[in-house]
Amino acid sequence: MSNRKIRVAVLFGGQSSEHEVSRISAQCVLENIDKDRFDIQTIGITRQGEWIKYDGDIRLIGSGEWEEKARAKLLEDRNKSPKTIQSGPATCMDLISYYDQEGNKQSADVVFPVLHGPNGEDGSVQGLLQLANIPYVGCNILASAAGMDKEFSKLVFQNAGIPQANYIKVMRNEITGSIDYLVNQVNEKLGWPCFVKPANAGSSVGVSKVSKPEDLEGALRTAAEYDNKILIEEFIDGREVECAVLGNENPMASTVGEIIPCNEFYDYNAKYLDGKSETIIPAKLDEHIIEQVRDYAIKAFKALGCSGLSRVDFFVERKTNRVILNEINTMPGFTSISMYSKLWEASGIPYSELITRLIELAFEKHENTLRSYERK
Ligand SMILES: Nc1ncnc2c1ncn2[C@@H]1O[C@H](COP(=O)(O)OP(=O)(O)O)[C@@H](O)[C@H]1O
Ligand SMILES: [Mg+2]
Repeated sequence: MSNRKIRVAVLFGGQSSEHEVSRISAQCVLENIDKDRFDIQTIGITRQGEWIKYDGDIRLIGSGEWEEKARAKLLEDRNKSPKTIQSGPATCMDLISYYDQEGNKQSADVVFPVLHGPNGEDGSVQGLLQLANIPYVGCNILASAAGMDKEFSKLVFQNAGIPQANYIKVMRNEITGSIDYLVNQVNEKLGWPCFVKPANAGSSVGVSKVSKPEDLEGALRTAAEYDNKILIEEFIDGREVECAVLGNENPMASTVGEIIPCNEFYDYNAKYLDGKSETIIPAKLDEHIIEQVRDYAIKAFKALGCSGLSRVDFFVERKTNRVILNEINTMPGFTSISMYSKLWEASGIPYSELITRLIELAFEKHENTLRSYERK
């Protein structure tokens, strides 16, 4: 492998509500990855869950036009002479293998799953890559799954002594009848306003701020469209700050950035559509608060057993300056202007170097995993 480039398979798209965000992140990765060191194989996952190889213009990935081109190419290749290719028993590796010009089967050396949300960032794809025995960028199955599920991650962070908002867990089947008992619980435990969110989602889909009891049911129903499990959370009146973490066993925390949402809270529109939300790097906060955020970010990363990368999001409560963890993202938005990349840029690691480091960390993690599984 030393005298040839490392083959990186970039996975993008996926079957989550963050399909589009993933396409945009992936396009940016492909535009900036170090082409002197890496050969790229690009695989798009459609909203229906098909895996399609794509070697066309990378600028068509963000817009979604890649899919039609990839399908056309697939048909064309099938019509050529698929029967000449001998295939053995299928393995997980086949998903990330491809045939070169000479009809030889080639495999990637490492996978970068640039996938956000359920079925991508939640351990499912990571499990597949683990079975295929191939190094991949980012967290392992357990950390990805626990990080995706806002209830499980809360339990882990609570155990690590990191402050978080109080919450009530509700299952979808509990909201079919009267929800008076939930209104009572909010009155007693959380107060109003409160936040309602699906336990497993992202990009603020299905998240609502609820100001009065009459609006609780609607918010619960909206969240239930995305997940079977819903959290009602205490409202934190705070500034929103984020910290990027990079590494495996000895991770580093970046500087801290602040988000100033252009809407009442950082909803989907404020994140991706309105273009008016601001980010301030480094956040203008007292040094001891910045250090508290960075310390909790590393604690959270380690407590969950993360590897590679994660972005840890916090509130700094306006009245008290208390640092409260909101959530972790094990595959955060990853364009060159995303918070994760900008935080590292500000901390001295440019975007394309960040991609290289993540790939190196993937190999390092894979080696450690091999050791612990004693696979020979
Ligand atoms: N408990 C809370 N108090 C105040 N604002 C919140 C709370 N929970 C979520 N928000 C707001 O909603 C946004 C999205 O919620 P979040 O839990 O981060 O979900 P997602 O995983 O979809 O990003 C946050 O960035 C914040 O603006
Ligand atoms: Mg968030």
